[in-house]
Amino acid sequence: MSAPLRIALAGLGTVGAGVINLLERNGGLITRRAGRPIEIVAVCARDRSKDRGIDLSRYPWEDDMTLLAGRADVDVVVELVGGSDGPALALARRTLAAGKGLVTANKAMIAHHGMELAEAAEQAGNGAGAPLKFEAAVAGGIPVLKGLREGVAANDVARVYGILNGTCNYILSTMERSGRDFAEVLGEAQALGYAEADPAFDIEGIDAAHKLAILAALAFGSRIDFGAVETTGITRIRAADIAQAEALGYVIRLIGLAEGAASQGGLFQRVQPCLVPLEHPLAAVDGATNAVVIEGNFAGRLLFQGAGAGDGPTASAVVADLIDIARGVDTAPFSVPVEALEARGPADPGNRLGRTYLRFNVTDRPGVLAEITAAMRDAGVSIESLIQEGRPEEGGEVLVVLVTHEGPESAVIQALELLQGSDSVIEPPLVMPLLA
Ligand code: NDP
Ligand code: HSE
Repeated sequence: MSAPLRIALAGLGTVGAGVINLLERNGGLITRRAGRPIEIVAVCARDRSKDRGIDLSRYPWEDDMTLLAGRADVDVVVELVGGSDGPALALARRTLAAGKGLVTANKAMIAHHGMELAEAAEQAGNGAGAPLKFEAAVAGGIPVLKGLREGVAANDVARVYGILNGTCNYILSTMERSGRDFAEVLGEAQALGYAEADPAFDIEGIDAAHKLAILAALAFGSRIDFGAVETTGITRIRAADIAQAEALGYVIRLIGLAEGAASQGGLFQRVQPCLVPLEHPLAAVDGATNAVVIEGNFAGRLLFQGAGAGDGPTASAVVADLIDIARGVDTAPFSVPVEALEARGPADPGNRLGRTYLRFNVTDRPGVLAEITAAMRDAGVSIESLIQEGRPEEGGEVLVVLVTHEGPESAVIQALELLQGSDSVIEPPLVMPLLA
Protein backbone atom coordinates (compact mmCIF):
# COMPACT_ATOMS: atom_id res chain seq x y z
CA MET A 1 0.00 0.00 0.00
CA SER A 2 1.35 3.46 -0.92
CA ALA A 3 1.88 6.22 1.63
CA PRO A 4 -1.30 7.97 2.77
CA LEU A 5 -2.41 11.26 1.26
CA ARG A 6 -2.15 13.56 4.28
CA ILE A 7 -4.76 16.29 4.43
CA ALA A 8 -5.48 19.28 6.65
CA LEU A 9 -9.07 20.49 6.98
CA ALA A 10 -9.70 24.21 7.40
CA GLY A 11 -13.35 24.79 8.34
CA LEU A 12 -15.50 22.31 10.22
CA GLY A 13 -18.95 23.66 9.47
CA THR A 14 -21.61 21.97 7.33
CA VAL A 15 -19.16 20.81 4.66
CA GLY A 16 -16.08 20.25 6.85
CA ALA A 17 -17.98 18.05 9.28
CA GLY A 18 -19.51 16.25 6.29
CA VAL A 19 -16.04 15.48 4.92
CA ILE A 20 -14.91 13.97 8.23
CA ASN A 21 -18.07 11.93 8.45
CA LEU A 22 -17.67 10.63 4.89
CA LEU A 23 -13.97 9.76 5.30
CA GLU A 24 -14.77 7.89 8.52
CA ARG A 25 -17.73 5.96 7.11
CA ASN A 26 -16.36 5.13 3.67
CA GLY A 27 -12.65 4.97 4.57
CA GLY A 28 -12.18 1.37 3.44
CA LEU A 29 -13.66 1.76 -0.01
CA ILE A 30 -11.96 5.12 -0.52
CA THR A 31 -8.56 3.56 0.28
CA ARG A 32 -9.18 0.77 -2.23
CA ARG A 33 -10.29 3.16 -4.95
CA ALA A 34 -7.62 5.79 -4.30
CA GLY A 35 -4.90 3.17 -3.99
CA ARG A 36 -3.88 4.63 -0.62
CA PRO A 37 -5.53 5.96 2.54
CA ILE A 38 -6.60 9.56 2.91
CA GLU A 39 -5.50 10.61 6.37
CA ILE A 40 -6.59 13.74 8.25
CA VAL A 41 -3.47 15.10 9.97
CA ALA A 42 -4.84 18.45 11.15
CA VAL A 43 -8.17 20.25 11.57
CA CYS A 44 -8.96 23.88 12.22
CA ALA A 45 -11.98 26.09 12.84
CA ARG A 46 -12.65 29.19 14.91
CA ASP A 47 -14.18 27.65 18.02
CA ARG A 48 -12.57 24.50 19.35
CA SER A 49 -15.29 23.90 21.93
CA LYS A 50 -18.23 23.93 19.49
CA ASP A 51 -20.29 20.75 19.31
CA ARG A 52 -20.18 19.68 15.66
CA GLY A 53 -21.85 16.30 16.08
CA ILE A 54 -18.55 14.52 15.32
CA ASP A 55 -15.73 13.25 17.52
CA LEU A 56 -12.70 15.44 16.80
CA SER A 57 -10.53 14.03 19.60
CA ARG A 58 -8.50 11.86 17.21
CA TYR A 59 -7.51 14.74 14.94
CA PRO A 60 -4.73 17.20 15.84
CA TRP A 61 -6.18 20.72 16.22
CA GLU A 62 -4.43 23.75 14.69
CA ASP A 63 -5.44 27.13 16.11
CA ASP A 64 -4.12 29.27 13.27
CA MET A 65 -5.29 28.00 9.93
CA THR A 66 -2.62 29.82 7.94
CA LEU A 67 -0.06 27.51 9.59
CA LEU A 68 -1.64 24.50 7.88
CA ALA A 69 0.02 25.43 4.59
CA GLY A 70 3.52 25.32 6.05
CA ARG A 71 3.27 22.02 7.89
CA ALA A 72 5.69 19.39 6.64
CA ASP A 73 3.19 16.60 7.35
CA VAL A 74 0.48 18.05 5.06
CA ASP A 75 0.19 17.15 1.35
CA VAL A 76 -3.17 18.81 0.62
CA VAL A 77 -5.08 21.60 2.35
CA VAL A 78 -8.88 21.39 2.13
CA GLU A 79 -10.32 24.90 2.44
CA LEU A 80 -13.94 24.81 3.67
CA VAL A 81 -14.10 28.19 5.37
CA GLY A 82 -15.73 30.32 2.67
CA GLY A 83 -15.51 33.96 1.62
CA SER A 84 -13.95 35.27 -1.57
CA ASP A 85 -11.09 37.01 0.21
CA GLY A 86 -9.83 37.16 3.79
CA PRO A 87 -8.54 34.06 5.57
CA ALA A 88 -9.67 31.58 2.90
CA LEU A 89 -7.77 33.36 0.14
CA ALA A 90 -4.70 33.87 2.33
CA LEU A 91 -4.69 30.14 3.09
CA ALA A 92 -5.16 29.20 -0.57
CA ARG A 93 -2.26 31.42 -1.67
CA ARG A 94 0.03 30.10 1.05
CA THR A 95 -0.86 26.50 0.29
CA LEU A 96 -0.03 26.76 -3.40
CA ALA A 97 3.08 28.86 -2.71
CA ALA A 98 4.23 26.03 -0.44
CA GLY A 99 3.81 23.63 -3.38
CA LYS A 100 0.94 21.75 -1.75
CA GLY A 101 -2.38 20.74 -3.25
CA LEU A 102 -5.54 22.73 -2.58
CA VAL A 103 -9.10 21.41 -2.59
CA THR A 104 -11.88 23.91 -1.99
CA ALA A 105 -15.67 24.21 -2.14
CA ASN A 106 -15.38 27.98 -2.23
CA LYS A 107 -17.06 29.23 -5.40
CA ALA A 108 -16.81 32.87 -4.33
CA MET A 109 -13.03 32.60 -4.08
CA ILE A 110 -12.69 30.70 -7.37
CA ALA A 111 -15.03 33.11 -9.20
CA HIS A 112 -12.99 36.11 -8.02
CA HIS A 113 -9.46 34.69 -7.86
CA GLY A 114 -9.61 31.46 -9.86
CA MET A 115 -7.24 32.68 -12.56
CA GLU A 116 -4.62 33.81 -10.06
CA LEU A 117 -4.91 30.57 -8.08
CA ALA A 118 -4.75 28.41 -11.21
CA GLU A 119 -1.57 30.25 -12.27
CA ALA A 120 -0.13 29.77 -8.79
CA ALA A 121 -0.98 26.06 -9.01
CA GLU A 122 0.81 25.80 -12.39
CA GLN A 123 3.92 27.51 -11.03
CA ALA A 124 3.92 25.76 -7.64
CA GLY A 125 6.93 23.66 -6.64
CA ASN A 126 9.29 25.56 -8.97
CA GLY A 127 7.13 24.78 -11.99
CA ALA A 128 6.36 21.17 -11.09
CA GLY A 129 2.75 22.25 -10.40
CA ALA A 130 0.36 21.45 -7.57
CA PRO A 131 -3.23 20.26 -7.79
CA LEU A 132 -6.04 22.80 -7.48
CA LYS A 133 -9.50 21.24 -7.38
CA PHE A 134 -12.95 22.71 -6.74
CA GLU A 135 -15.62 20.24 -7.90
CA ALA A 136 -17.77 20.99 -4.81
CA ALA A 137 -17.84 24.68 -5.67
CA VAL A 138 -20.44 24.17 -8.41
CA ALA A 139 -23.69 22.26 -7.91
CA GLY A 140 -22.71 20.45 -4.70
CA GLY A 141 -22.59 16.70 -5.23
CA ILE A 142 -23.06 16.77 -9.02
CA PRO A 143 -19.80 16.04 -10.88
CA VAL A 144 -20.53 18.69 -13.47
CA LEU A 145 -17.02 20.21 -13.63
CA LYS A 146 -15.62 16.75 -14.27
CA GLY A 147 -18.38 16.34 -16.86
CA LEU A 148 -17.19 19.48 -18.66
CA ARG A 149 -13.46 18.88 -18.23
CA GLU A 150 -13.54 15.20 -19.18
CA GLY A 151 -16.92 13.93 -20.38
CA VAL A 152 -17.61 16.55 -23.06
CA ALA A 153 -13.97 17.47 -23.70
CA ALA A 154 -14.40 16.65 -27.39
CA ASN A 155 -17.37 18.99 -27.91
CA ASP A 156 -17.85 22.60 -28.92
CA VAL A 157 -20.28 23.59 -26.16
CA ALA A 158 -22.98 26.00 -27.31
CA ARG A 159 -24.57 26.68 -23.97
CA VAL A 160 -24.63 25.62 -20.37
CA TYR A 161 -27.49 26.51 -18.08
CA GLY A 162 -29.43 25.35 -15.10
CA ILE A 163 -30.49 25.62 -11.50
CA LEU A 164 -27.33 26.46 -9.58
CA ASN A 165 -28.53 27.55 -6.16
CA GLY A 166 -30.19 25.07 -3.82
CA THR A 167 -31.43 27.71 -1.40
CA CYS A 168 -33.33 29.64 -4.09
CA ASN A 169 -34.72 26.48 -5.58
CA TYR A 170 -35.82 25.30 -2.17
CA ILE A 171 -37.53 28.65 -1.52
CA LEU A 172 -39.27 28.84 -4.92
CA SER A 173 -40.45 25.24 -4.99
CA THR A 174 -41.63 25.37 -1.37
CA MET A 175 -43.49 28.64 -1.94
CA GLU A 176 -45.04 27.01 -5.02
CA ARG A 177 -46.22 23.94 -3.12
CA SER A 178 -47.26 25.54 0.14
CA GLY A 179 -48.12 29.13 -0.73
CA ARG A 180 -45.95 30.09 2.24
CA ASP A 181 -44.10 33.30 2.73
CA PHE A 182 -40.59 33.99 1.36
CA ALA A 183 -38.95 34.92 4.71
CA GLU A 184 -40.30 31.87 6.53
CA VAL A 185 -39.05 29.49 3.85
CA LEU A 186 -35.62 31.17 3.73
CA GLY A 187 -35.24 30.49 7.49
CA GLU A 188 -35.93 26.83 6.81
CA ALA A 189 -33.29 26.64 4.05
CA GLN A 190 -30.78 28.21 6.45
CA ALA A 191 -31.62 25.69 9.17
CA LEU A 192 -31.06 22.85 6.69
CA GLY A 193 -27.49 24.09 6.00
CA TYR A 194 -28.12 25.06 2.37
CA ALA A 195 -27.68 28.82 2.63
CA GLU A 196 -24.42 30.76 2.58
CA ALA A 197 -23.18 32.37 5.81
CA ASP A 198 -24.77 35.55 4.41
CA PRO A 199 -27.96 34.34 2.68
CA ALA A 200 -28.07 37.52 0.59
CA PHE A 201 -25.50 35.74 -1.61
CA ASP A 202 -28.14 33.11 -2.34
CA ILE A 203 -31.30 35.17 -2.76
CA GLU A 204 -29.63 37.99 -4.69
CA GLY A 205 -28.33 35.47 -7.23
CA ILE A 206 -24.64 36.11 -6.43
CA ASP A 207 -23.87 32.52 -5.43
CA ALA A 208 -25.41 31.25 -8.68
CA ALA A 209 -23.40 33.88 -10.56
CA HIS A 210 -20.17 32.63 -8.95
CA LYS A 211 -20.98 29.11 -10.12
CA LEU A 212 -22.04 30.23 -13.59
CA ALA A 213 -18.78 32.14 -14.09
CA ILE A 214 -16.82 28.97 -13.23
CA LEU A 215 -18.98 26.79 -15.48
CA ALA A 216 -18.64 29.24 -18.37
CA ALA A 217 -14.85 29.31 -18.09
CA LEU A 218 -14.71 25.52 -18.31
CA ALA A 219 -17.39 25.20 -20.97
CA PHE A 220 -15.97 27.83 -23.31
CA GLY A 221 -12.24 27.77 -22.54
CA SER A 222 -12.43 31.39 -21.45
CA ARG A 223 -10.98 33.31 -18.53
CA ILE A 224 -13.39 33.67 -15.62
CA ASP A 225 -15.28 36.96 -15.95
CA PHE A 226 -17.50 37.16 -12.88
CA GLY A 227 -18.01 40.91 -13.32
CA ALA A 228 -19.72 40.27 -16.66
CA VAL A 229 -22.46 38.03 -15.21
CA GLU A 230 -25.75 39.95 -15.26
CA THR A 231 -27.34 39.01 -11.97
CA THR A 232 -30.90 39.27 -10.63
CA GLY A 233 -32.10 37.39 -7.55
CA ILE A 234 -35.46 36.11 -6.40
CA THR A 235 -36.32 38.68 -3.73
CA ARG A 236 -38.97 40.43 -5.82
CA ILE A 237 -40.94 37.31 -6.64
CA ARG A 238 -44.35 37.27 -5.03
CA ALA A 239 -46.85 34.49 -4.48
CA ALA A 240 -48.91 36.23 -7.21
CA ASP A 241 -46.11 35.71 -9.76
CA ILE A 242 -45.91 32.03 -8.86
CA ALA A 243 -49.69 31.73 -9.29
CA GLN A 244 -49.68 33.62 -12.61
CA ALA A 245 -46.82 31.47 -13.90
CA GLU A 246 -48.71 28.35 -12.95
CA ALA A 247 -51.85 29.56 -14.71
CA LEU A 248 -49.75 30.07 -17.85
CA GLY A 249 -48.25 26.55 -17.60
CA TYR A 250 -44.89 27.49 -16.08
CA VAL A 251 -42.92 27.42 -12.83
CA ILE A 252 -40.42 30.04 -11.73
CA ARG A 253 -36.81 28.95 -11.29
CA LEU A 254 -33.58 30.91 -10.81
CA ILE A 255 -31.62 30.02 -13.94
CA GLY A 256 -27.97 30.66 -14.68
CA LEU A 257 -27.27 30.61 -18.40
CA ALA A 258 -24.07 31.03 -20.39
CA GLU A 259 -23.71 30.95 -24.15
CA GLY A 260 -20.45 31.22 -25.97
CA ALA A 261 -19.91 28.87 -28.89
CA ALA A 262 -16.56 29.62 -30.54
CA SER A 263 -18.35 31.16 -33.56
CA GLN A 264 -20.35 33.57 -31.40
CA GLY A 265 -17.70 36.10 -30.37
CA GLY A 266 -18.74 37.46 -26.99
CA LEU A 267 -19.76 35.45 -23.97
CA PHE A 268 -23.29 35.78 -22.61
CA GLN A 269 -23.66 35.09 -18.86
CA ARG A 270 -26.82 35.78 -16.91
CA VAL A 271 -28.50 34.68 -13.66
CA GLN A 272 -32.18 35.56 -13.51
CA PRO A 273 -35.52 34.11 -12.41
CA CYS A 274 -37.16 32.60 -15.49
CA LEU A 275 -40.49 31.03 -16.37
CA VAL A 276 -39.76 27.38 -17.11
CA PRO A 277 -42.41 25.44 -19.08
CA LEU A 278 -43.88 22.56 -17.09
CA GLU A 279 -42.74 20.04 -19.69
CA HIS A 280 -39.07 21.19 -19.43
CA PRO A 281 -36.90 18.86 -17.27
CA LEU A 282 -35.83 21.83 -15.10
CA ALA A 283 -39.45 22.48 -14.07
CA ALA A 284 -39.51 19.24 -12.08
CA VAL A 285 -36.37 20.15 -10.12
CA ASP A 286 -37.52 20.59 -6.55
CA GLY A 287 -36.06 21.54 -3.18
CA ALA A 288 -32.29 22.05 -2.86
CA THR A 289 -31.71 19.99 -6.01
CA ASN A 290 -29.54 21.51 -8.73
CA ALA A 291 -29.59 20.63 -12.40
CA VAL A 292 -27.22 21.64 -15.17
CA VAL A 293 -27.80 21.26 -18.89
CA ILE A 294 -24.78 21.13 -21.20
CA GLU A 295 -25.33 21.33 -24.94
CA GLY A 296 -22.41 19.92 -26.92
CA ASN A 297 -22.22 19.77 -30.70
CA PHE A 298 -21.64 16.00 -30.68
CA ALA A 299 -22.92 14.84 -27.27
CA GLY A 300 -26.21 16.72 -27.71
CA ARG A 301 -28.11 17.85 -24.63
CA LEU A 302 -26.89 16.38 -21.35
CA LEU A 303 -28.68 16.85 -18.02
CA PHE A 304 -26.79 16.58 -14.74
CA GLN A 305 -29.08 16.56 -11.73
CA GLY A 306 -28.66 15.99 -8.00
CA ALA A 307 -28.28 17.54 -4.59
CA GLY A 308 -26.70 20.95 -4.98
CA ALA A 309 -26.07 21.71 -1.32
CA GLY A 310 -25.86 20.14 2.11
CA ASP A 311 -23.18 18.27 4.03
CA GLY A 312 -23.26 14.83 2.40
CA PRO A 313 -23.41 15.75 -1.31
CA THR A 314 -20.85 18.53 -0.96
CA ALA A 315 -18.50 16.29 1.01
CA SER A 316 -18.89 13.68 -1.74
CA ALA A 317 -17.50 16.14 -4.30
CA VAL A 318 -14.68 17.29 -1.99
CA VAL A 319 -13.55 13.72 -1.35
CA ALA A 320 -13.80 12.83 -5.05
CA ASP A 321 -11.22 15.57 -5.66
CA LEU A 322 -9.02 14.10 -2.93
CA ILE A 323 -9.30 10.65 -4.50
CA ASP A 324 -8.22 12.14 -7.84
CA ILE A 325 -5.16 13.67 -6.17
CA ALA A 326 -4.37 10.41 -4.36
CA ARG A 327 -4.57 8.58 -7.70
CA GLY A 328 -2.32 11.15 -9.38
CA VAL A 329 -5.00 12.42 -11.78
CA ASP A 330 -3.55 15.69 -12.95
CA THR A 331 -5.92 17.67 -15.18
CA ALA A 332 -5.48 21.45 -15.40
CA PRO A 333 -8.06 23.19 -13.17
CA PHE A 334 -9.62 24.91 -16.20
CA SER A 335 -8.79 22.07 -18.64
CA VAL A 336 -6.00 24.04 -20.33
CA PRO A 337 -3.16 26.19 -18.99
CA VAL A 338 -4.32 29.64 -17.88
CA GLU A 339 -2.41 31.36 -20.71
CA ALA A 340 -4.43 29.32 -23.24
CA LEU A 341 -7.77 30.59 -21.87
CA GLU A 342 -9.37 33.27 -24.04
CA ALA A 343 -10.46 36.68 -22.75
CA ARG A 344 -13.94 36.98 -24.29
CA GLY A 345 -15.87 40.21 -23.96
CA PRO A 346 -19.56 40.12 -23.04
CA ALA A 347 -22.09 39.42 -25.82
CA ASP A 348 -24.73 42.07 -26.55
CA PRO A 349 -27.91 40.83 -24.81
CA GLY A 350 -30.14 43.16 -26.84
CA ASN A 351 -29.82 40.86 -29.88
CA ARG A 352 -31.28 37.92 -27.99
CA LEU A 353 -34.71 36.74 -29.06
CA GLY A 354 -37.27 35.45 -26.63
CA ARG A 355 -40.62 35.77 -24.91
CA THR A 356 -40.86 37.76 -21.70
CA TYR A 357 -43.10 37.87 -18.62
CA LEU A 358 -43.62 41.40 -17.29
CA ARG A 359 -45.41 42.18 -14.03
CA PHE A 360 -46.40 45.78 -13.39
CA ASN A 361 -47.74 47.11 -10.10
CA VAL A 362 -49.96 49.95 -11.16
CA THR A 363 -52.41 52.40 -9.69
CA ASP A 364 -55.83 51.28 -10.83
CA ARG A 365 -57.22 54.20 -12.80
CA PRO A 366 -58.55 54.71 -16.32
CA GLY A 367 -55.88 54.73 -19.01
CA VAL A 368 -53.22 52.67 -17.21
CA LEU A 369 -53.50 49.66 -19.46
CA ALA A 370 -53.54 51.91 -22.52
CA GLU A 371 -50.33 53.57 -21.32
CA ILE A 372 -48.58 50.20 -20.94
CA THR A 373 -49.80 48.80 -24.23
CA ALA A 374 -48.91 52.04 -26.05
CA ALA A 375 -45.33 51.78 -24.77
CA MET A 376 -45.21 48.18 -26.03
CA ARG A 377 -46.59 49.25 -29.41
CA ASP A 378 -44.16 52.16 -29.74
CA ALA A 379 -41.19 49.89 -28.94
CA GLY A 380 -42.41 47.20 -31.34
CA VAL A 381 -43.19 44.63 -28.65
CA SER A 382 -45.98 42.26 -29.59
CA ILE A 383 -48.20 41.17 -26.67
CA GLU A 384 -49.28 37.55 -26.44
CA SER A 385 -51.44 37.82 -23.31
CA LEU A 386 -52.37 40.41 -20.74
CA ILE A 387 -53.96 39.76 -17.37
CA GLN A 388 -55.10 42.29 -14.81
CA GLU A 389 -55.73 41.04 -11.30
CA GLY A 390 -59.07 41.87 -9.61
CA ARG A 391 -59.87 45.42 -8.59
CA PRO A 392 -59.58 46.03 -4.83
CA GLU A 393 -60.83 49.63 -4.92
CA GLU A 394 -60.54 52.49 -7.37
CA GLY A 395 -57.11 54.12 -7.06
CA GLY A 396 -55.67 51.05 -5.28
CA GLU A 397 -52.76 48.92 -6.48
CA VAL A 398 -53.34 46.17 -9.03
CA LEU A 399 -51.03 43.80 -10.83
CA VAL A 400 -50.88 43.74 -14.59
CA VAL A 401 -49.12 40.73 -16.06
CA LEU A 402 -48.14 40.67 -19.66
CA VAL A 403 -46.43 38.00 -21.76
CA THR A 404 -44.81 39.04 -25.02
CA HIS A 405 -44.50 37.17 -28.28
CA GLU A 406 -40.98 36.29 -29.29
CA GLY A 407 -38.92 39.36 -30.07
CA PRO A 408 -35.59 41.06 -29.32
CA GLU A 409 -34.79 41.90 -25.71
CA SER A 410 -33.80 45.38 -26.80
CA ALA A 411 -37.44 46.12 -27.72
CA VAL A 412 -38.67 45.15 -24.23
CA ILE A 413 -35.96 47.31 -22.67
CA GLN A 414 -37.04 50.21 -24.86
CA ALA A 415 -40.69 49.77 -23.85
CA LEU A 416 -39.74 49.82 -20.17
CA GLU A 417 -37.69 52.97 -20.74
CA LEU A 418 -40.76 54.62 -22.25
CA LEU A 419 -42.69 53.80 -19.08
CA GLN A 420 -40.05 55.18 -16.76
CA GLY A 421 -41.37 58.17 -14.88
CA SER A 422 -45.00 57.12 -15.39
CA ASP A 423 -46.90 57.99 -12.23
CA SER A 424 -49.21 54.99 -12.74
CA VAL A 425 -46.42 52.41 -12.52
CA ILE A 426 -45.69 52.09 -8.80
CA GLU A 427 -42.43 50.14 -8.83
CA PRO A 428 -40.05 48.94 -11.53
CA PRO A 429 -41.67 46.05 -13.41
CA LEU A 430 -40.55 42.48 -12.71
CA VAL A 431 -39.06 41.07 -15.90
CA MET A 432 -38.58 37.33 -16.38
CA PRO A 433 -37.69 35.60 -19.64
CA LEU A 434 -39.55 32.43 -20.66
CA LEU A 435 -36.96 29.67 -20.91
CA ALA A 436 -36.99 28.13 -24.40
P1 NDP B 1 -20.02 26.98 7.53
O1 NDP B 1 -20.30 28.42 7.84
O2 NDP B 1 -20.95 25.95 8.00
O3 NDP B 1 -18.56 26.61 8.04
C1 NDP B 1 -17.46 27.48 7.94
C2 NDP B 1 -16.36 26.94 8.82
O4 NDP B 1 -15.22 27.79 8.70
C3 NDP B 1 -16.72 26.91 10.31
O5 NDP B 1 -16.30 25.70 10.87
C4 NDP B 1 -15.93 28.08 10.91
O6 NDP B 1 -15.52 27.85 12.24
C5 NDP B 1 -14.73 28.08 10.00
N1 NDP B 1 -14.07 29.40 9.96
C6 NDP B 1 -14.58 30.57 9.58
N2 NDP B 1 -13.65 31.54 9.70
C7 NDP B 1 -12.54 30.94 10.16
C8 NDP B 1 -11.24 31.39 10.49
N3 NDP B 1 -10.91 32.68 10.36
N4 NDP B 1 -10.33 30.50 10.94
C9 NDP B 1 -10.66 29.20 11.08
N5 NDP B 1 -11.88 28.70 10.77
C10 NDP B 1 -12.80 29.57 10.32
O7 NDP B 1 -19.85 26.92 5.93
P2 NDP B 1 -20.16 25.70 4.98
O8 NDP B 1 -19.56 24.48 5.52
O9 NDP B 1 -21.60 25.71 4.61
O10 NDP B 1 -19.39 26.18 3.65
C11 NDP B 1 -18.00 26.07 3.53
C12 NDP B 1 -17.63 26.39 2.09
O11 NDP B 1 -18.26 25.44 1.23
C13 NDP B 1 -18.07 27.76 1.60
O12 NDP B 1 -17.14 28.24 0.67
C14 NDP B 1 -19.38 27.45 0.90
O13 NDP B 1 -19.70 28.40 -0.09
C15 NDP B 1 -19.06 26.12 0.28
N6 NDP B 1 -20.18 25.28 -0.06
C16 NDP B 1 -21.15 25.04 0.87
C17 NDP B 1 -22.19 24.19 0.58
C18 NDP B 1 -23.27 23.89 1.56
O14 NDP B 1 -24.22 23.19 1.19
N7 NDP B 1 -23.19 24.37 2.79
C19 NDP B 1 -22.28 23.53 -0.73
C20 NDP B 1 -21.19 23.83 -1.63
C21 NDP B 1 -20.19 24.68 -1.29
P3 NDP B 1 -16.56 27.68 13.46
O15 NDP B 1 -17.37 26.47 13.14
O16 NDP B 1 -15.69 27.47 14.65
O17 NDP B 1 -17.35 28.94 13.48
N1 HSE C 1 -25.72 28.20 -0.68
C1 HSE C 1 -25.47 27.31 -1.75
C2 HSE C 1 -26.78 26.87 -2.36
C3 HSE C 1 -24.71 26.11 -1.25
O1 HSE C 1 -27.84 27.12 -1.74
O2 HSE C 1 -26.79 26.34 -3.46
C4 HSE C 1 -24.26 25.20 -2.37
O3 HSE C 1 -23.31 25.81 -3.17
